[in-house]
Amino acid sequence: MSTKVISFVTLKGGSGKTTLLMLTAAAIHNRTDKKLLVIDSDPQLSVKQIFLQENNPKSFDVFAINWTQPNPQEYFDKVLTLAKRKYDLIFMDLPPGRITDPTIYYSIMASDILIVPVVASQLDINATTAFLEQLPELKKERPLKPLEVFGVINKQDQSIEYKHLSKLVGIGGLEIFYSTLSNLVRYKRGVSTFKDIANPADANDEFNRYFDEFRLKCFI
Ligand SMILES: Nc1ncnc2c1ncn2[C@@H]1O[C@H](COP(=O)(O)OP(=O)(O)O)[C@@H](O)[C@H]1O
Ligand SMILES: [Mg+2]
Repeated sequence: MSTKVISFVTLKGGSGKTTLLMLTAAAIHNRTDKKLLVIDSDPQLSVKQIFLQENNPKSFDVFAINWTQPNPQEYFDKVLTLAKRKYDLIFMDLPPGRITDPTIYYSIMASDILIVPVVASQLDINATTAFLEQLPELKKERPLKPLEVFGVINKQDQSIEYKHLSKLVGIGGLEIFYSTLSNLVRYKRGVSTFKDIANPADANDEFNRYFDEFRLKCFI
């Protein structure tokens, strides 16, 4: 089977891209036999830093891309070609920014699936709408390669803004996961390159419900 490339992406910082990527990556690493590489394309290098701090031999692999290279696209393509020979799955952590930023543009073009964390606030909804509306143009540039786009409601609380999220469904092909992640301290503290955030046997854990849906929708 070919390697699946999944990018965690939104225009806004702080919506939970890195958190969601790391929680999902640790669960893939611990609960499946898939070989996983995380490509860190954010200049803040959040994933790479945790990888270096933890320095644990049981970590999943992390590779930081330097987008300030003279020929970033060529370099990125080479990294991906080599990575696809070795890994079943590639997750990409992206910086916030415009879809036309080379880092975001090339990463989306190389992806099979986009995971878009959405927070139920007016600002986040506006930024996500603007992002999703630009996707059809990008899709036209890759007519033979499908791009699936899944929204994941993150930091869910009791606010009514939650209801407005349904307006996003369908824009740029967005489908929203029925499972959501709440605003919980454990997600702030629990990111790790080798430790699972939840006990996989706990069927009532919201993270496990999200992870099962992730595997189902992404065919992993
Ligand atoms: N579900 C959540 N519950 C509580 N805090 C969260 C949750 N998701 C993310 N955070 C926190 O929100 C902040 C931004 O998350 P981060 O993953 O860095 O976002 P991004 O990568 O989109 O900029 C971090 O402090 C993180 O710990
Ligand atoms: Mg981030």
